Amino acid sequence: MTQIVISAPGEPSVLRAQGAPVPTPAAGDVLVRVEAAGINRPDVLQRQGHYPMPPGVTPVPGLEIAGVVVAVGPGVDGWAPGDRVCGLTNGGGYAEFCLVPAGQLLPIPRGFDAVQAAALPETFFTVWANLFGLGRARAGDRVLIHGGSSGIGTTALLLCREFGIEAFATAGDEAKCDAIRALGGTAIQYRTTDFSETILQATDGRGVDVVLDIMGGSYFDRNLSVLARDGRLVVIGFMGGRYATSVDLQSLVLKRVVVTGSTMRSRSPEEKAEIARELRERVWPVLEAGRCLPVLDRVFPFLEAAEAHRHMESGAHVGKIVLRVSETPSPL
Ligand SMILES: NC(=O)c1ccc[n+]([C@@H]2O[C@H](COP(=O)([O-])OP(=O)(O)OC[C@H]3O[C@@H](n4cnc5c(N)ncnc54)[C@H](OP(=O)(O)O)[C@@H]3O)[C@@H](O)[C@H]2O)c1
Repeated sequence: MTQIVISAPGEPSVLRAQGAPVPTPAAGDVLVRVEAAGINRPDVLQRQGHYPMPPGVTPVPGLEIAGVVVAVGPGVDGWAPGDRVCGLTNGGGYAEFCLVPAGQLLPIPRGFDAVQAAALPETFFTVWANLFGLGRARAGDRVLIHGGSSGIGTTALLLCREFGIEAFATAGDEAKCDAIRALGGTAIQYRTTDFSETILQATDGRGVDVVLDIMGGSYFDRNLSVLARDGRLVVIGFMGGRYATSVDLQSLVLKRVVVTGSTMRSRSPEEKAEIARELRERVWPVLEAGRCLPVLDRVFPFLEAAEAHRHMESGAHVGKIVLRVSETPSPL
């Protein structure tokens, strides 16, 4: 098979196509012939050598795929060759064949093609586990989502609208603000406006119940300032750095704020399988009803993975970037 490897840490040109044997599924694994693979910011960080990889995983990038089951390992129940699936991988998605733990697979939602389905797992697992799990966002809550036009941000906005949550979201230009509005959120252009002032004004000083934060250090203090009483700050990225230099801890105490965060890759297989079960029950019926469709920015041919990374790093995209790995037409 062909796979895309990171030949050395660095620029997108370090992504190279390479021949490799088709892997054999071990106990609990499913071998999927990949039709499409999603690209995510953590892939860019991994390529640059900045991602703390969990021990024992393949160095081949690619955290989400969609395709067809070709073989199952010992002990796998519920999946069989020919099933059309999408899944959260432990890496290795930039390849013609990929091993995925059985519990991290979901059926391709009815009506979806492989490209749309490959755009689901990484951001839906992450937003579900962080905004709704750790952040405990519920109907009637107000939330702030940083990077509202990102893969993560567009998914968070879709799910907020679906589950009755009022969302504010930040973005760096007007076109991205328009995209946020189209997804039902209140857009805040962070280059021209202070998001904390805007939110406190819009909420009569009350603030938001949850902040889903991809920025980290540079926003930490202001994130605390916009949280309501018993609010939750969930940090899932460090686009603005890992270190917060100025923090007023008084707001933690006065407002009983909770600060937390997580990474999807370091969760156990059991935790990932539980998230998959919840998504299948709560979100897959919504997708099959034609709502919460992922926002697709651009599809690149498999062998143009480097170009796809350049596009992500340019910051010009809104929503998801996907690689089309095989040209097999969808039977849907
Ligand atoms: N913890 C986890 O499990 C997990 C899983 C997946 C992703 N993530 C994290 O989530 C984040 C988004 O991932 P993604 O795949 O959705 O990436 P993406 O689509 O490339 O989005 C990146 C976002 O960052 C914003 N951004 C970039 N530089 C910025 C800056 N200097 N100031 C403010 N905003 C900036 C961009 O918005 P503007 O262009 O509007 O500035 C864009 O919306 C990343 O930090 C990623 O590592 C975490």
